[in-house]
Amino acid sequence: MDIALLDELPPPLPAEQIIALNRPKADLHSRRSCEWNGWSFEVPPGVFLPGATSRMIYQRLLDGAIEVRGRRYAAMGVGLGVEAVVAGLRGAREIYAIDVHPDSVAAATRHYERLVGPKEGTAFVPVVADVFDGFPDGRQVDVVTFNPPAVSQTVSDDPDVVRNVCLGAPLLATFFTQLAERDLLAPGAEVFVIVSNTADLRAIVGHAVRQGFVPEVRMRHDWNDGVLTYLFRFQRGSVA
Ligand SMILES: C[S@@+](CC[C@H](N)C(=O)[O-])C[C@H]1O[C@@H](n2cnc3c(N)ncnc32)[C@H](O)[C@@H]1O
Repeated sequence: MDIALLDELPPPLPAEQIIALNRPKADLHSRRSCEWNGWSFEVPPGVFLPGATSRMIYQRLLDGAIEVRGRRYAAMGVGLGVEAVVAGLRGAREIYAIDVHPDSVAAATRHYERLVGPKEGTAFVPVVADVFDGFPDGRQVDVVTFNPPAVSQTVSDDPDVVRNVCLGAPLLATFFTQLAERDLLAPGAEVFVIVSNTADLRAIVGHAVRQGFVPEVRMRHDWNDGVLTYLFRFQRGSVA
């Protein structure tokens, strides 16, 4: 186990600070819109409105720092679907747009069809699933991204806010356990997870390590308000 990395990770911020930083916006149940990279997206009620953390993943998919070209890609918790659109344009071989929220999967599908459409060598597969429970059997992927609702404090009693923001470390425990036990990763696969110290980073990374994953910090961003965001890359350790 990479004890040194675990010890270096900051503990969660104080509960009151996490709650103040994640006050739910009043408009989640309304129709919103957003723009990124010159594209406009309509955001249906209940679907997560992408923020700066989301865009850190989108940008890396776009510039190839997270390489999906020619690879089988699972966008876990795809929400609005921007990751899937970028992966389509970059030429991923298979794109699994996965979310537990059917309206999010439907929105992702609409945006994919509008901005990418049918493309030779690229298959788009919308999947409504609770993490990988609902993902087709027997498939493997080469790359996974997840911007999870990992905030460690319950910031609302609205189930849609909870689903988008604050399911906490147990969701990531399920994610890594399913990846490992269902043998969902092809040899050499990369799993990218972006989380901050509004989450329990040590619990999340510790669980992944116990499931046999080797973590690496790919980026650490200081927002100058106490929040530190980490982009981790996990790979399966070699089986001795
Ligand atoms: C923080 S949002 C990220 C959305 C999008 N990927 C982005 O970065 O803009 C988290 C997403 O995870 C989804 N989610 C929550 N619980 C889930 C679960 N058990 N299985 C799959 N997706 C889940 C939510 O519906 C939401 O779309």
